[in-house]
Amino acid sequence: MEDRPQTLVRKMVANIYQPHPASIQAVKEETGDIKTLTLVFKDQEIQGSFSFRPGQFVLVSVFNCGEAPISISSSPTFSEGLQLSIKEMGLLTGEIHRYTEGEEVGLRGPYGNGFPLDELCGHNLLFVGGGIGLAPLRSLIEYVFSKRSEFGRVTVLYGARTPRDIVFKDDLAAWDREKDVRVMITVDRGDSEWKGDIGPVTHLLKRATIYPSNTKTIICGPPVMISYVVFDLLKMGFAEDEIISTLERHMKCGVGKCGHCSIGSKFTCMHGPVFTYRQIKEFPSVL
Ligand SMILES: Cc1cc2nc3c(=O)[nH]c(=O)nc-3n(C[C@H](O)[C@H](O)[C@H](O)COP(=O)(O)OP(=O)(O)OC[C@H]3O[C@@H](n4cnc5c(N)ncnc54)[C@H](O)[C@@H]3O)c2cc1C
Ligand code: FES
Repeated sequence: MEDRPQTLVRKMVANIYQPHPASIQAVKEETGDIKTLTLVFKDQEIQGSFSFRPGQFVLVSVFNCGEAPISISSSPTFSEGLQLSIKEMGLLTGEIHRYTEGEEVGLRGPYGNGFPLDELCGHNLLFVGGGIGLAPLRSLIEYVFSKRSEFGRVTVLYGARTPRDIVFKDDLAAWDREKDVRVMITVDRGDSEWKGDIGPVTHLLKRATIYPSNTKTIICGPPVMISYVVFDLLKMGFAEDEIISTLERHMKCGVGKCGHCSIGSKFTCMHGPVFTYRQIKEFPSVL
């Protein structure tokens, strides 16, 4: 009986419906409009108990600006906090870009289904990312490297608008140095120093020597990129269940109550944001 209040406290601190204050430990400028924040919950008990799957997201609250869904870009195995990589888009993301070390935001979650880790285990993995879409993929890629023997060959294809828009440059270079890993990057428009590929990410797909058997593909990026990539993967012989993609929708509550993120009969915040192409093709005009 005596430890009942303790149990209640533990349940309350783990409440995923309530924003918890988190302080910014580090800010890294990835590109001109994308920053990665490393955050630590102020309450040590929450910090110690917070767990998530790659592909899940949190709702970030900023005083006077409201809330925004942001994918967790660090791996669950990252020990120094939680990383969020945020592109400046409007009110909230603009405000957060002005924040520095020591300032606070609210975080609630984690929400969403995340990537199907058990199904990916034992397979070769093909990651296809565009722009800030590499953020949730980074969480999974880092996780895969922390459990390297459980996964096969890893290929990362990444497309950005220009060389200056490439995110996670250090990580991309580090991943490419790993055994049985290939990283290929392309940009829509090069500059005087760019010696790499130019063109859509689907061009890389043609050159990457990927075999559909025993390979699962995980995609995240703008809808137009996703639809071209899926089209090419199907032509290459990938099964619809082996193509896994995130879908982005406007969200408010994050917990299946407000209906803002509904897509067919599903709520992206609860049933997604990760879906197989077999599920996606049943939704009305998504891609
Ligand atoms: C599950 C999920 C995960 C996300 N993960 C990330 C992430 O890791 N990093 C990141 O930078 N962004 C991410 N986003 C997008 C991010 O939530 C929006 O950019 C953010 O809400 C914009 O808020 P704002 O107040 O700055 O912009 P607003 O002032 O509200 O709007 C600025 C512009 O952004 C557009 N916008 C707002 N929300 C979305 C959305 N959900 N999808 C597409 N366009 C939108 C608006 O239509 C408007 O044109 C994610 C979105 C979802 C649904
Ligand atoms: S964001 Fe409210 S139902 Fe999904």
